[in-house]
Amino acid sequence: MRTLNVELKDRSYSIHIGSGLLSHSKLLTERFKQRRAAVITNETIAQLYLERLVTALGEQGVETVRIIIPDGEAYKNSHTLNAIFDGLIENRCERGTPIIALGGGVVGDIAGFAAAVYQRGVPFFQVPTTLLAQVDSSVGGKTAINHPFGKNMIGAFYQPRAVIADTDTLETLPQRELAAGLAEVIKYGLIRDYAFLNWIEANAERLIGRDPEALAYAIELSCRTKADVVELDEREHGLRAHLNFGHTFGHAIEAGTGYGTWLHGEAVAAGMVLAAQLSQRMGYLSTTDVARISALLTRVGLPIDAPDLGAARYLELMAHDKKVEGGRLQLILLEKLGTAFVTEAPGAALHGVLEQLTVHA
Ligand code: NAD
Ligand code: GLY
Repeated sequence: MRTLNVELKDRSYSIHIGSGLLSHSKLLTERFKQRRAAVITNETIAQLYLERLVTALGEQGVETVRIIIPDGEAYKNSHTLNAIFDGLIENRCERGTPIIALGGGVVGDIAGFAAAVYQRGVPFFQVPTTLLAQVDSSVGGKTAINHPFGKNMIGAFYQPRAVIADTDTLETLPQRELAAGLAEVIKYGLIRDYAFLNWIEANAERLIGRDPEALAYAIELSCRTKADVVELDEREHGLRAHLNFGHTFGHAIEAGTGYGTWLHGEAVAAGMVLAAQLSQRMGYLSTTDVARISALLTRVGLPIDAPDLGAARYLELMAHDKKVEGGRLQLILLEKLGTAFVTEAPGAALHGVLEQLTVHA
């Protein structure tokens, strides 16, 4: 087992990464005061892993309330959130009853938001089961639901008390979902760690082939990078925005095509290519750099061509981004491979990048 710490004073916590951890429920229960916990998961993951977790909790004398939501990004909304509150209240969950999110980023984000606001905040634990959740969404305390006009528009910063990533769960993950997780892994290399980017390029086949050592290393490095950034800027006053490289375009793709059509990681991949092209137009990256990014994303099975929603529609969707300040959109660009920066969206160059989508469509 690999263990990392996220140092946030009284909200510090550990991330445990390893094989078979779903059955090591002591990692969770040693942090519980109550002998009851609510596990929130979805119908797909419930079939695969809920019993294993419930049994392990039972062995530690913890009784489980099960709340099962429908599967999919399209359900990360206020309707599902209310159904979660119904389940918590009907089962008399108290202020001290921990909530455990068992699943991918959708379950983690909505369960985390429920934990942040139910009875003004209850203890929260993340048990991520997708690569994307193990490298990104379970760490750092961002929780949210979507609004039809904008992704993750309603949410809270609410840190988990622990993250338990059982790498065995990745064995059942569909290949398309594995690739979606690799988009966020590649993002860390692009924004902050050129050596890691080189490592990903050298090990891309091992990663898509689910080599356990390669995946565990990529998860650890990704979590370390994310933890470092969150420790420096938990509430996204500056540096943390770098983690959104490709996401402003990506969120527009997700909302514009209908949530769930493009996977989050796929939208981020195509979004990173647009952000790289914009960086090139601004004189930072070379054409070779942009080609290198596209080639790596393609090798791991990710899309690089964003859909042609029309430049006007992109700009409309991007205007709902949380990085809009005083009506002005901020974007994350690359100064060079391995180094990101935040800038006000450069109007003409941005139009140019969006309009070329028509040419490629
Ligand atoms: P997801 O939660 O929809 O999971 C992907 C699919 O895989 C689902 O169908 C799920 O049921 C299934 N699944 C999960 N674990 C499985 C397993 N072990 N075996 C087989 N199937 C499994 O998608 P995701 O990519 O994990 O997360 C995307 C979400 O995360 C988006 O809503 C995105 O906005 C959010 N996100 C949040 C943050 C954050 O910091 N909070 C960061 C990145 C992404
Ligand atoms: N996924 C972006 C962040 O956690 O800040």
